[in-house]
Amino acid sequence: MSTAGRDLYDDDRFFAGYRRLRDSAAAINDVVEIPALDRMLPPVAGASIVDLGCGTGALARRLADAGAADVLAVDSSRRMLALATPHPRVRLLRADLDELALPARSADLVVSSLALHYVADYPGLVERVAHWLRPGGRFVFSVEHPVCTAADPMSGWVRTEHGTVWPVDDYAREGSRTQRWIIEGVQKHHRRLTTLIGALLAAGLELTGIDEPVPSDAALADRPQLAEHLRRPPLLVLAARRDDAARAGPGSAPPGRGTR
Ligand SMILES: C[S@@+](CC[C@H](N)C(=O)[O-])C[C@H]1O[C@@H](n2cnc3c(N)ncnc32)[C@H](O)[C@@H]1O
Repeated sequence: MSTAGRDLYDDDRFFAGYRRLRDSAAAINDVVEIPALDRMLPPVAGASIVDLGCGTGALARRLADAGAADVLAVDSSRRMLALATPHPRVRLLRADLDELALPARSADLVVSSLALHYVADYPGLVERVAHWLRPGGRFVFSVEHPVCTAADPMSGWVRTEHGTVWPVDDYAREGSRTQRWIIEGVQKHHRRLTTLIGALLAAGLELTGIDEPVPSDAALADRPQLAEHLRRPPLLVLAARRDDAARAGPGSAPPGRGTR
């Protein structure tokens, strides 16, 4: 049996372990992922922002504190949303990202922190994000790196007679994966780098940034166990922009796809 991402964070056994992990020295969120995401973010003063898979809303609140006009923070987990501290410019919405519908041209920035590897239809979501963005709007997100999601099951580090290795297998076979992560049967979705970037381009977005962040020297000095993340990339961060000139220009749309 596997547990889809949309239900995972409301599972009691999973949630207790997740909170422990998130607060532990092994977590790379605060020292690797969030700094990398921040480097890609545009100025947010006055912006209308959507946070996909917001969890307890920390990023949404930070963006609101940085001057965003409004932040719509979306997550499927009742429990994660219940832990969110209210903020006058953050609106929480419980919804499945695979079904989320928002008004066209309603957002200046769509962000997502480590949630899109749970989404079943990534190209479909990217199409919708492109639709929600205003001209010039940005989409900035992090996901688990495809090197990490490839193997089925996602075994993580494996001990061999030659030391520990991270197996990368079945890379070209995209789709659902299971992982023993805190509990058995956590379901994620593997996509090739080509698909992660190609869906942005196919939706008429311009790729403006890419990063495979690793711990800084300072973080490694403080927490030497993070050095394993230098051996294979844990995360991928992508940034894209809705470029209406390119969308409207002759020959700019990929074959078979119209411009919106
Ligand atoms: C790793 S947590 C990240 C939370 C937050 N973005 C952060 O960085 O702290 C992934 C989040 O994605 C949410 N999620 C997973 N699948 C989802 C789906 N299909 N629709 C909406 N939210 C989903 C989970 O409930 C969880 O809160």
